[in-house]
Amino acid sequence: MSEVIWGLGTSHVPSIGAAMDRDLTADPKWSPLFDGYAPAREWLAERTPDVAILVYNDHANGVDLDIVPTFAIGTAEQYRVADEGYGRRAVPDVTGDPDLSCHLLEHLVDDGFDLTVFSELDVDHGFTVPLSVWTPDPGDAWPCPVVPIMVNVIRYPQPSAARCYALGQAIGRALASYEGARTVGILGTGGMSHQLAGARAGFVNPEFDRMFLDAIADDPQRLTALHRDEYIRLAGSEGIELIMWLVMRGAMNARVRTVHTAYHVPASNTAAGLALLDNRSAP
Ligand code: DHB
Ligand code: FE
Repeated sequence: MSEVIWGLGTSHVPSIGAAMDRDLTADPKWSPLFDGYAPAREWLAERTPDVAILVYNDHANGVDLDIVPTFAIGTAEQYRVADEGYGRRAVPDVTGDPDLSCHLLEHLVDDGFDLTVFSELDVDHGFTVPLSVWTPDPGDAWPCPVVPIMVNVIRYPQPSAARCYALGQAIGRALASYEGARTVGILGTGGMSHQLAGARAGFVNPEFDRMFLDAIADDPQRLTALHRDEYIRLAGSEGIELIMWLVMRGAMNARVRTVHTAYHVPASNTAAGLALLDNRSAP
């Protein structure tokens, strides 16, 4: 039996990765954001799991827009860092865990989630920036193997928040019968509120984001009750990325303990947030 030990919700804004890659984290423009990450990084550094599951979206870098799976899983041994047009980030490629991928795939299909399968996949900022938020100095390798779960948040109709939460619950059930890893970390990524184009470009909604950061731990049902139109209205057209945090939350216990939250506006055009949840020590 495998156990989820923590969940990490984090934004994936590409410029966060770029600031790290260019050594700008102490710059006054960036230091408030990175200072906010510090307690979470310290806590995580002492709790490296055997394997991680990272719930993310591709931005037409690893996969063409002609094919947009609603939910997908990677089953590869290795995932290359994608070239998003300005060269690959100088971070390690990602080691996968095909055995866990195949276990999840089989159990999720049996549980009613007919995932698309990627046996080859390049991972973009949606994947590598959350890894950098977790592990700023990975050296030659990320701290553990990582299994990608991909969610469509870029093309209408995106899956409902409730369906994302249900997928997380099914992942939790699948892990309960997995013998290949003792401890699992799960990352839900994207958000917070932002809109990159159109009449509302630059839109952020701190009030909504603060509510989300509280509710993801203590009242996820409040978040699963929101329709996709409400996510877009309240969090912006790209703020709907936040539904991916609900996959993470669904895989965790009904009660969790918040270790740390951080919130900063803006990173690029986006509200950046982090929520670190301990799955083992809820009161
Ligand atoms: C930005 C945010 C995103 O979520 C993204 O995928 C790309 C860019 C931004 O704020 O620049
Ligand atoms: Fe994005």
